[in-house]
Amino acid sequence: MAAGCVKVFPKFVLSSFLVLLSALLVQIRAYKPIIIIHGIFDHASTFDNFSVAIKKAHPGTNVTIIDEYTELFSLYPMWEQVRGFQKTMAPIMQQAKDGVHIICYSQGGLICRGVLESMDDHNVDTFISLSSPLMGQYGDTEYLKYVFPHYLKENLYKVAYTSYGQDISISNYWNDPHHQDLYKENSVFLAVLNNQTAKNDKSKEYKNNFLKLKKLVLIGGPDDGVITPWQSSHFGFYDDNETVVEMKEQEVYQRDYFGLKTMDARGDVTTYEIPGVQHLNWHKNLTVFNDYIEKWLT
Ligand SMILES: *[C@@H]1O[C@H](CO)[C@@H](O)[C@H](O)[C@H]1NC(C)=O
Ligand SMILES: *[C@@H]1O[C@H](CO)[C@@H](O)[C@H](O)[C@H]1NC(C)=O
Ligand SMILES: *[C@@H]1O[C@H](CO)[C@@H](O)[C@H](O)[C@H]1NC(C)=O
Ligand SMILES: *[C@@H]1O[C@H](CO)[C@@H](O)[C@H](O)[C@H]1NC(C)=O
Ligand SMILES: *[C@@H]1O[C@H](CO)[C@@H](O)[C@H](O)[C@H]1NC(C)=O
Repeated sequence: MAAGCVKVFPKFVLSSFLVLLSALLVQIRAYKPIIIIHGIFDHASTFDNFSVAIKKAHPGTNVTIIDEYTELFSLYPMWEQVRGFQKTMAPIMQQAKDGVHIICYSQGGLICRGVLESMDDHNVDTFISLSSPLMGQYGDTEYLKYVFPHYLKENLYKVAYTSYGQDISISNYWNDPHHQDLYKENSVFLAVLNNQTAKNDKSKEYKNNFLKLKKLVLIGGPDDGVITPWQSSHFGFYDDNETVVEMKEQEVYQRDYFGLKTMDARGDVTTYEIPGVQHLNWHKNLTVFNDYIEKWLT
């Protein structure tokens, strides 16, 4: 009788211990789900290797690369894309009790800003912006030549800031430093996100929603070659003399138009300036992933 008890007791203790241990391991291994948003003229599969790198570093991570608004469809108006991506992101967020991380590349970074500001029940923990023109774009690129073959940066404002121009994504974040009045009057996307137009009666709501974000990670660098000025990836931009003015000197920051200053004061904005990476390589370069991204994905 006594001997039986001795045998049963340790088994019970052992199995309780194992249950506890596996619960702890699940706890440790429960990396937050990750949602990836691609860039212009792009699609999900260019992130395949990146996704493999995430899963290798953090086994068990649920990574979703949203394959919508790909290739030419990436020229659809930004708000329409924001609504579409948001529809796909919402159920992933709902399943994730502890929140999700989002990694948004190039134009995708602006789509993520749109989602974060307009969605009042998002649960994004960390937003990693991978070389995204967060304060807009003002430069001649192959992309621009393709969409507007008859325009150069100096005169694109003539079409970008019209109602038909605003039906094309690039125009939605075209930020011409020499035509700021037209930009503020006609940009239905970036000027609204930045609260640089009097037209957004939801600006306080947008700011509150943005501030629900826990961490903001801004990645960009001088050899990007597409984002112009490249400092737009860090919320810097040209003044009317085409001199780059850094984030903290921007009016939208100083007047805290959408919460950036508050978030920075909270200590939740991290900026990485990484040389040697061209625009199409940010999500292909494993050093970038290992040194600047992996640590945020817990
Ligand atoms: C993934 O990596 C392999 C091997 O380095 C490379 O051949 C392939 O082009 C990469 N795929 C993408 C989509 O970058
Ligand atoms: C990943 O998350 C999505 C959305 O929550 C879910 O539908 C899917 O089943 C998950 N995949 C795995 C392998 O857990
Ligand atoms: C404009 O830029 C030029 C050179 O690029 C510089 O000499 C000048 O001081 C700048 N003016 C202002 C007002 O910043
Ligand atoms: C947005 O700008 C308007 C002025 O155009 C201002 O009244 C409003 O308070 C601003 N909103 C935020 C959140 O700063
Ligand atoms: C990869 O990134 C590192 C910085 O992390 C950079 O020095 C290097 O030049 C990059 N290589 C390519 C091919 O992008």
